[in-house]
Amino acid sequence: MRNHQWAAAVIALTCGAGAASAAPPPATGPIPDRQVAQRVEALLARMTLEEKVGQLTQVAGGLFPGAKPEEAIRKGGAGSVLWLNDTRKFNELQKVAVEESRLKIPVLFGLDVIHGYRTIFPVPLAMAASWDPSVHERAADVAAREARAAGIHWTFAPMVDIARDARWGRIVEGAGEDPYLGSAMAAAQVRGFQGPYLGAPDHVLACAKHFGAYGAAEGGRDYDPVYVPEGRLRNVYFPPFQAAVKAGVGSFMSAYMDLNDVPAGGNRWLLTDVLRKEWGFPGFVVSDAMGVGNLVTMGFAKDRADAARRALGAGLDMEMASGVFPEHLARLVKEGAVPAAQLDDAVRRVLAVKVRMGLFETPYADETRVASVLADPAHRAEARLAAQRSMVLLRNEKKTLPLAKTVASLAVIGPLADSRADTEGSWMVFGHVPAAVTVLEGLRAKLPAAKIAHAPGPEIRRRVPSMFDQFMPGPKKPPQTPEQAEAAFQQAVETAKGADVVIAVMGELANMSGEAASRASLDLPGRQEELLKALVALGKPVVLVLLNGRPLSINWAAENVPAILEAWQPGTEGGNAVADVLFGDAVPGGKLPVTFPRSAGHAPLYYAHNLTHSPEGSPMYNVRYWDGAPTPLFPFGHGLSYTSFSFANLKVATPQVKAGAPATVTVDLTNTGSVAGDEVVQLYVHQKSGSDSRPVRELKGFRRVSLAPGETQAVTFTLGPEQLRYWSTSQGKWVQDAAAFDVWVGSDSTANLHAELQVVP
Ligand code: BGC
Repeated sequence: MRNHQWAAAVIALTCGAGAASAAPPPATGPIPDRQVAQRVEALLARMTLEEKVGQLTQVAGGLFPGAKPEEAIRKGGAGSVLWLNDTRKFNELQKVAVEESRLKIPVLFGLDVIHGYRTIFPVPLAMAASWDPSVHERAADVAAREARAAGIHWTFAPMVDIARDARWGRIVEGAGEDPYLGSAMAAAQVRGFQGPYLGAPDHVLACAKHFGAYGAAEGGRDYDPVYVPEGRLRNVYFPPFQAAVKAGVGSFMSAYMDLNDVPAGGNRWLLTDVLRKEWGFPGFVVSDAMGVGNLVTMGFAKDRADAARRALGAGLDMEMASGVFPEHLARLVKEGAVPAAQLDDAVRRVLAVKVRMGLFETPYADETRVASVLADPAHRAEARLAAQRSMVLLRNEKKTLPLAKTVASLAVIGPLADSRADTEGSWMVFGHVPAAVTVLEGLRAKLPAAKIAHAPGPEIRRRVPSMFDQFMPGPKKPPQTPEQAEAAFQQAVETAKGADVVIAVMGELANMSGEAASRASLDLPGRQEELLKALVALGKPVVLVLLNGRPLSINWAAENVPAILEAWQPGTEGGNAVADVLFGDAVPGGKLPVTFPRSAGHAPLYYAHNLTHSPEGSPMYNVRYWDGAPTPLFPFGHGLSYTSFSFANLKVATPQVKAGAPATVTVDLTNTGSVAGDEVVQLYVHQKSGSDSRPVRELKGFRRVSLAPGETQAVTFTLGPEQLRYWSTSQGKWVQDAAAFDVWVGSDSTANLHAELQVVP
């Protein structure tokens, strides 16, 4: 939409819609609360019951054939549209809203912009592996800039679900297993998506999802019920959500599943008592897709009317796509089954966000700007840096990496080596055409003079197709026959024979993690491990580059492949970033945000478990399973570098502090190797006794530090009551016990540099 059309729209709004304001909104900076409230009340006073319900109704856009959002919008029956990704269409629909609907309330366009809009960043699990919230913030900022330019106002991100079960496919969308790291990443993404305040130009409304504890699905099976006691909810699953609230997130999404036998979308304790009353969340809550209708399917609500009444009553404001609110809410209010004030409160919350977002002043996207914003080369540069920083060097025997740029020939083997879609990874915005630089392309660009051969080997594929395959562009290939797979296997081995170094690019397809993408095995799918064995048997240096969205139990590789780089699903610049790391132009410094188990049978496996009567180190510990070690394959926080680091002089400045007072912990970090590199200094504590049993270790501080060779830096952390308190099951409240604490600092969750802290009453 051109500028003069914008101006016309604003004039129409200010004259036509009482939405507008007594005072004009400030040119920059947030709209003052009082002004927001006045504008909302002025609108609310003019709304019919049906128009109110309309604001709480989100309808499908272009994704579903036959979707006709314009009809609902014209009647004031749709406050928001999702599953549409077309700037011109956004503007057309918006025109219907602001010119043809009675109250001219603009539509909020929402879409899943998870790890990028056009420029795709590493998947969120990978971003967490950077242990650098500023990188995640910038990634979200770029995603917001592109999405907003294209006409999207609202992203259904960040996903801040803690995930401790690698079988669960949606582990890829979050920050992994730890509440402290997860909280830092949640807040960073909210800041990045929303900018300095809700409504900041070039930013979008963020949405913390899926509230709450969706990641604890039984058996790692997506959508299955969750049974988590209150203490664990508050100590583990809730902190990233609360961090999002503190960072000012404007919306929340309720989860699909039963939480302790009450569906999250109808759970008043969750959505009202905790979220609004305790945490003071001022924004609005949207259901997950079809979530309100699902209350009937799940055997909770008697019928759709009951679902509408109970969802709204629980504190859910906007319904995503199931059409239950428009069917029933107005009538329920007229009949007195739903209090009118409850409806009004929900509408207020939605309208307040629309006002704050500046939609009444700038309802349209500027179509002339889209192309240049999406093509901004700075975005690609950010994506490359983010990918470099997210990679985790899992193993590097005999300094196999970095490779010398003088290498004459490479064989790049594996089904993911030249796949754009799988390099970008899980959760693309609708209609996105994968455009990643693949690993093969990145290597060719890095070494233009080398001979670089490629063979994909046998294909990998889900046994049960993904429900999202229908949205992926491009023709669908029939599965390989066993004979074709065998020929591809042999060809891959032959190709490798001719090269000096073999780069095996293996892992999982993009659609093997994400929603409805759980697995009962964590092994490399298909014949990849068999191929890897054949490649290693050639006796050449082999580097395994993993592209995947979850921990994999790569037991054989972890003992037999000399170098393993966890590159995750690294995004648009992924191939270039892999090449940068393999050849030493970037030094890996990422760390695992999740434990890698040795087997799917070990899930859930996480470092912050409680002690038992046979703890690690005791003779009984290793007989937990009689068919293998119970320990992780790679621990939480693990990640190597091309240089080495040492930690020394761990000190707790005041080894005894009063409850409520902060303690200062310092440590000296030295780069003892010969190249510059990054270390993530990780601080763990263990409360030795108290009102409740506490985890054997908990992360309570981290910092990613860059050091030149020989350089030393003192790193300081503060352990305050925020870090030392917890929700006590035995007390039924937050407590900070007077107790002794172990303190460890080091490079992963097995750190052994130790000090003590005593908290006294
Ligand atoms: C997912 C959400 C997503 C929504 C809208 C649901 O299936 O669970 O994470 O935001 O769809 O696309």
